[in-house]
Amino acid sequence: MKKYNTLLIDNSVKQLVIVKINRPEARNALTTELLIELADVLENVTENDALKAIVITGTEKVFAAGADLKEMAALDMIGVLEDIRPKIWKKIANFPKPIIAAVNGFALGGGCELVMHADIVIAGDNAQFGQPEINLGIIPGAGGTQRLIRTVGKALAMKMVLSGEFISAEEALSAGLVAEITIPELTLERAIALAKLIASKPPLAVKQAKEVLLKAFETHLDTGMQYERKAFTVLSGTEDRNEGIAAFFEKRKPVFKGR
Ligand code: HXC
Repeated sequence: MKKYNTLLIDNSVKQLVIVKINRPEARNALTTELLIELADVLENVTENDALKAIVITGTEKVFAAGADLKEMAALDMIGVLEDIRPKIWKKIANFPKPIIAAVNGFALGGGCELVMHADIVIAGDNAQFGQPEINLGIIPGAGGTQRLIRTVGKALAMKMVLSGEFISAEEALSAGLVAEITIPELTLERAIALAKLIASKPPLAVKQAKEVLLKAFETHLDTGMQYERKAFTVLSGTEDRNEGIAAFFEKRKPVFKGR
């Protein structure tokens, strides 16, 4: 994979791409360039059948401190109106393979919103999540109102967005923003282990599962159930489904082919 200015890419784990946000001098603040580079990685992973999932991480102290405030300060209202970043966020949201976030330290503003674009979040016990935009006279702009309220519920989302107060890893776990907490030294390792486990599963089923689960954010129950049933029906016609059931009865490990 090519070199990026703002991301370090680790291809050493088979079937995975590990992306490390690499702007430590600005606490991993998310510039437009960084988001474009991230979208480029995702596009490459989408097109490569051998790659099954991505892991996104930051440094041990900061996952990402939000939108880059120098860049933001330079934009007037028309600049914000014509900003290309909403389109890039949409690409991240539409990425069809699993994204696992390994979060140590601060995930603030756009950083917390990036966390919410991940499918599974593993947090170090030093992680802090927050939407401090209110302190800057703005509000979250990449899902920090809409995804947050759907993820943690009204009480906590209102508290976080209106007060700017951060929540701890423990609070994020009990609110459902985070799937697991570990010691910071093991956050990335655990995220990779989970990504490897998912990479070993039948890819068509993984893809359908992600797509259908995310529909629950957008649809009524009945429509969501229809999506689920359709995906379930489609998967029953795959070779991998036959292989999975055959392997169960033959008491052996299945060999999935993504067909
Ligand atoms: C640009 C940033 C930055 C940011 C930190 N820096 N956050 N630069 N954009 N978001 C820079 C600082 O200016 C400073 O540069 C250097 O990084 C170190 O920052 P410190 O504050 O000294 O570090 P520390 O004491 O470790 O505190 C870390 C921190 C704090 C808690 C993460 O930096 C912080 O609160 N940052 C801003 C968080 C924030 O408000 N996020 C929301 C952004 S708005 P120098 O040159 O002095 O060394 C947003 C809207 C999203 O995200 C809209 C849709 C995407």
